[in-house]
Amino acid sequence: MIYWKDVYSVGVVKLDEEHKDLIESINIVDELYYSNKEEAIPKLEEINRKLVNHTFNEDEYMISIKYPNRNSHVQRHTEILENFDKHILLVKRSKTEEEYHKAILRLSIFMRDDILLHSLGEDREYHIWQSSKKLS
Ligand SMILES: [Fe+2]
Ligand SMILES: [Fe+2]
Repeated sequence: MIYWKDVYSVGVVKLDEEHKDLIESINIVDELYYSNKEEAIPKLEEINRKLVNHTFNEDEYMISIKYPNRNSHVQRHTEILENFDKHILLVKRSKTEEEYHKAILRLSIFMRDDILLHSLGEDREYHIWQSSKKLS
């Protein structure tokens, strides 16, 4: 299980709440390992909708603070969303239990390596930038 910590905050309540929800989504994906394709697909599509919504809200925030690295950040979001789609497709196309388990495991690793690390890394960078702007 992964839990939210205050040090993960990006200084915006709404975005923090969405990040908490995304961390919860990682735990949901892990649990789906013990489930099956039919149950997994609607849950994964819901996570996908949350992810799309979150990247949209984060972009609006970056525009509002005139964040200079917005373009590369948005590009990273596009990559993450495209890869998430590919992982959902792998789950949908799985024909055996073994293929399903492999697809969920790959998705679980992707959620940690890409989505979580992005939230704790690149997302924190706009927070650091915005905090230093407030101080100057
Ligand atoms: Fe984020
Ligand atoms: Fe982001």
